[in-house]
Amino acid sequence: MVQRNRNLLTQANQQLQQFAQVVNGDKAVRPVRKGESLRVGVDLGTSSIVMVVLDQDDQVIYGNFEYDHAVRDGLVVNFMDSVRILSRLKEQTESILGVPLTTACGAIPPGTGAGSAKIVANVIESAGFICRKVVDEPTAAAQFLRVKSGTVVDIGGGTTGVSVFKNKKLIQVSDEATGGFHMSLVVAGHNGWDMDTAEQAKRDPAKEDDVFALIRPVVEKMATITSDVTAGSPQEPVIVVGGAINFKDFIDTFSKALGTPAYKPDFPQFVTPIGIAMYDHDT
Ligand SMILES: Nc1ncnc2c1ncn2[C@@H]1O[C@H](COP(=O)(O)OP(=O)(O)OP(=O)(O)O)[C@@H](O)[C@H]1O
Ligand SMILES: [Mg+2]
Repeated sequence: MVQRNRNLLTQANQQLQQFAQVVNGDKAVRPVRKGESLRVGVDLGTSSIVMVVLDQDDQVIYGNFEYDHAVRDGLVVNFMDSVRILSRLKEQTESILGVPLTTACGAIPPGTGAGSAKIVANVIESAGFICRKVVDEPTAAAQFLRVKSGTVVDIGGGTTGVSVFKNKKLIQVSDEATGGFHMSLVVAGHNGWDMDTAEQAKRDPAKEDDVFALIRPVVEKMATITSDVTAGSPQEPVIVVGGAINFKDFIDTFSKALGTPAYKPDFPQFVTPIGIAMYDHDT
């Protein structure tokens, strides 16, 4: 089981590494042919807006992102800011690829309703795309990870989202308010720092051991949330994604507290956006 789950992530990791090489750079993975159909995914997150471009075979072409505060708890709270950022990302990508981008897909956390899907579609259309579909975030992540049955845990800025899949169907979801923001709060509180300083410390490899010692209980809480939602025996494999898990000791601590081995793809903050782009086709 463990070996199979490692293999499961091999293909995803290759694509994630390729994405990480080009993201926000001045070059695409390869030139785009005139008239070639592209797939675009837009992830409007609490801490960043990420845009992904794939080809017809779901291979990475390019991607970029900007940090933002236009979304809170998965809901767009600043429409104009979101549109401005996304328009900028679109323009930059078009100038690098040398072709216009016409269509895109977006995503919402599960259970946030038709209203928030409409707002996400409006942001995407106001930035100049035809919005083909708004999917739910964990389903997009599971699609990219090729998980048919299993548990996808998405730990972003604000929340820990737990989604259980059986035979490609999302059978259970829950979203609890514990995310990267809460890690920053602990780091800031302990050191008497403001949140920006704490945020920088979290991303500083030289401070990683000190930071992780402080946030370990938050990671254990995230595992407890996962365990509670799944009544102590999560559907395997358990795959954890989202930017907040970018610590070398995260997955070990999380797995121990959960009592079940969990797996972390490379560059876990890009899993959902790549998955979203995979839906941008007409059949
Ligand atoms: N290198 C890093 N080390 C530690 N934490 C990180 C790192 N990179 C990002 N984070 C944290 O990850 C969080 C953002 O994760 P992600 O990009 O998945 O969120 P999002 O999709 O914007 O938010 P959400 O899904 O909650 O709407 C932030 O709290 C940020 O501090
Ligand atoms: Mg997210």
